Amino acid sequence: MLPPPGRLVHEVAIVADGSGIMGADKKERPMEVQVVPSFAEMSRRGAAMIGAAIAERPDLVLALPTGATPIALYRELVAAYAQGQANFSRTQTFNLDEYCGLGPDHPASYHTYMRENLWDHVNLPPEQAHIPNGAAADPERECERYEQAVAAAGYPDLAVLGIGHNGHVGFNEPGAALRSTVHVADLSAETRSLAFHAWRDLSPCLFPQLAAFPTHAITMGMGTILKSRRILLLASGAGKAQAVCRAVNGDVTTRLPASFLQLHPRVTLLVDTAAAALL
Ligand code: GLP
Repeated sequence: MLPPPGRLVHEVAIVADGSGIMGADKKERPMEVQVVPSFAEMSRRGAAMIGAAIAERPDLVLALPTGATPIALYRELVAAYAQGQANFSRTQTFNLDEYCGLGPDHPASYHTYMRENLWDHVNLPPEQAHIPNGAAADPERECERYEQAVAAAGYPDLAVLGIGHNGHVGFNEPGAALRSTVHVADLSAETRSLAFHAWRDLSPCLFPQLAAFPTHAITMGMGTILKSRRILLLASGAGKAQAVCRAVNGDVTTRLPASFLQLHPRVTLLVDTAAAALL
């Protein structure tokens, strides 16, 4: 039977594998969904997948996210390195995004986040750790430079992604259109407000009011991300359940950028039970 017009049918089958972990029914070649009991287990499993990919291919090109979701995953990778179980010496990493106007040393920059959570604790050579320069004098040129750098590396072998409450990926925000390549994105009011309040709880003086929080970011576009050979999408907590459900089961729409992942043949969705509640 033909799908109704404008609706891309994408079947997702979830089956138990006996260990409490859910996986996809491979017969249907759907998005693979792994549901794990907790944030800790999501982090362990995600780190193990990345570690296995690097072990298999030491010169792996990774795209990496920031935010709260991958924090413990990075801790797991750092622990694996400390125990001699992971070697980043030939790996290249490309961060998905960076806030415009925040220099590498700004406490809220994703540079700082990456240094604190991963780069300073593993043997990834600094010249192989890439991230857009949010303080570039010419952001448009910086976007071109970053897209070219990702392209020159052959695009990511594995893109690790988080998802925003509104279904954003990187800083590809919901809207009437999506941009394909690295670009300067307008941050949505919701995204800015959530990040501003999170920072206000941590460090009240950093952004005295919402108006002081960045309004734009440099982000990989959905096209850049979809050129990755494999994608691992992480989500944790009830607050992500709706976005996850729409990303997996909903229409492919620019109103929910993560839904574009349905167009990719090799996506693994790794979620805890709270984030999977509506699947
Ligand atoms: C941020 C980042 C995304 C991230 C998402 C979710 O603003 N730009 O790359 O995946 O929002 O963040 P969190 O994991 O904190 O919920």
